[in-house]
Amino acid sequence: MSALKLDQLIRGVTVSAPEVYQKLTRALEDPDSNYLDLGNIISADPGLSARLLKLVNSPFYGFTSHVSSITHAIDIVGTSQLVDLALATEIVDKFNDIPRDLVDMRSFWKHSIGCGILARGFAQKTGQLNPEKYYLAGLLHDIGSVLLYHQSPKMARLVLETSRTNNQLLCDSEKELLGFDHGEIGRALFEKWFLPEVFAEVAESHHHPERAVQHSFFVLIVHIADVICNEMGWGTGGEPQPPPLYKDALVNAGINPADVETIKKSCQSQFNAVVNIFL
Ligand SMILES: [Fe+2]
Ligand SMILES: [Fe+2]
Repeated sequence: MSALKLDQLIRGVTVSAPEVYQKLTRALEDPDSNYLDLGNIISADPGLSARLLKLVNSPFYGFTSHVSSITHAIDIVGTSQLVDLALATEIVDKFNDIPRDLVDMRSFWKHSIGCGILARGFAQKTGQLNPEKYYLAGLLHDIGSVLLYHQSPKMARLVLETSRTNNQLLCDSEKELLGFDHGEIGRALFEKWFLPEVFAEVAESHHHPERAVQHSFFVLIVHIADVICNEMGWGTGGEPQPPPLYKDALVNAGINPADVETIKKSCQSQFNAVVNIFL
């Protein structure tokens, strides 16, 4: 029986909820505010705006003309899309003090970015209206692991070692040792931060897409992206080997195996570019 409880772990989190994102969503809901207000909120954080501009000018979008300001970026990318990218950027910046001898966080974020980019690629291929949301959901799918590294490095080390020794999925080692897994930690964090349910559900069920309730297509796409990202060796989320692909996952998502190869190729330059911007 673990001495660590999920609610204790979450209560102990001192990392604050993403403030810029909260301001942006409040402005989005305010009928009196306009996209200039959103631009001002983002521009007030120079680090965030610089990264967003780099992202918008990178192969992630592949625009031919240069985007030079946040208001121009909102114009060209769309308001809610830029808000999603802002949240992704803000969260990656929040966890920058993980002990270096525990995990290679560069490799961890590479895995997260790779999963986000592949999820966005699959969302575009299957005609989804909000591919940036898939990028964000993919980027954040393993956030529960980051929180465990951050809050309880000792238990995280034991989980990583056990998973490696037994060659088993992280979530199985976590269940045995802690009684809960990184998916449940992710959900609990997003609930604490009042982030949209879709991200909580993707985090919670990305290893078990059959358990998804409200956002099953999001969960399925991120599940596929996670497996493929592991197979491609784009960083690592700590799994000793690629997790298994849920049976019928591709069929249920409406993706041909041939499309997988095309998407992998088209995502490569985006992956390199985004890694250079963030890491
Ligand atoms: Fe995972
Ligand atoms: Fe993962």
